[in-house]
Amino acid sequence: MILRNISLKPYNTFGLDYKANCLAELSSEEEAVDFLRDKKLCREPLLIIGEGSNILFTGDYKGTIIYAKIEGIKVDEQNDQHIIVSAGSGVKWNHFVEWCVNNGYGGVENLSLIPGLVGATPVQNIGAYGMEVKDTIEKVRTINISNGSVREFSNEECRFGYRDSIFKKDLKSKYLVIKVFFKLNTIPSFKIEYGSLKKEVEKLGEINLRNVRQAVINIRRCKLPDTEVFGNAGSFFKNPVVNKTEAENLFLKYPYIPHYFSFPGGIKLAAGWLIEQCGWKEKRIGGAGVYDKQALVLINHGNATGKDIYDLSEAIKQSVLRKFGLELEREVEIIGPI
Ligand code: EPU
Repeated sequence: MILRNISLKPYNTFGLDYKANCLAELSSEEEAVDFLRDKKLCREPLLIIGEGSNILFTGDYKGTIIYAKIEGIKVDEQNDQHIIVSAGSGVKWNHFVEWCVNNGYGGVENLSLIPGLVGATPVQNIGAYGMEVKDTIEKVRTINISNGSVREFSNEECRFGYRDSIFKKDLKSKYLVIKVFFKLNTIPSFKIEYGSLKKEVEKLGEINLRNVRQAVINIRRCKLPDTEVFGNAGSFFKNPVVNKTEAENLFLKYPYIPHYFSFPGGIKLAAGWLIEQCGWKEKRIGGAGVYDKQALVLINHGNATGKDIYDLSEAIKQSVLRKFGLELEREVEIIGPI
């Protein structure tokens, strides 16, 4: 389905009311291939979106937005310990996690309630509570945007990193994800050491998939805003990763910075804490604000423009740089003029 001159309000979780010249909702692999091969329909510049939960529009989009709405969850293979399940790019991520938990398949339960669609999860390598989606991805089925040919990427070929993959770097906007194949455990092993997760699970009873999922949901509901109440895109920045020497210097001055040593490639510091220490919690610029329960999340108080949210993020970046000498990197992608 091709929609013209369409409001983007339902297509971004900040709830910003910009317009796009054209938006193509593609609901099958065949429809996506046909659309991408037809150069008359597919006018550049192109932008691929999922649920719009990790983007910030700062103006109207003068091109074509592609929204791969392919549904369906299917068991493809099973042995004693593992099961391969494929899910269409348009399946809501949290619905997929619920399906896995209800069927007794482990590996994604800590990623409960993360907004967005299955198709965006390998692009962004979503993660929470000590789990990253890359650890369950077997392969990713895509369509080449320039010629409509189908290509599958193995886990290794996706070159996953912290909130990162080849689809955000060398192959940015070159492939449309249509299906993701997950390798899940039929005998789950649990990861509940992160923060207060273990305590929250124990409050619910035994350690099982349903209780881990519920515990994650409970923690997220306490800390993160509901997009129906305040438009937001989850963490606006990545947690900065520093080397041992940089960390030791910072710890001399600020011994209480929350951090994770086990992170490969360095020491990950909590950006939310850094932002809070700069006095940003609950502050506003125009209609944009810093969430009171988690300073890493920027919110739309109802009347924000994309520029308000961008300006707030810039001001935060500058003060964290001034106080801690650390350059925060945005996790959210800015689309439009700044
Ligand atoms: N903290 C503060 N002040 C704040 C926010 C956090 O002091 O305003 C402290 C917390 O007390 C805690 C530490 O910072 O000691 C870490 O906070 P939290 O557990 O909330 O996690 P995070 O590092 O801020 C990351 C992810 C989240 C994910 C959580 C839980 C990134 C950029 N963010 O946040 O992901 O849900 O861990 O695993 O890695 C997202 O990407 O959209 C997202 C929400």
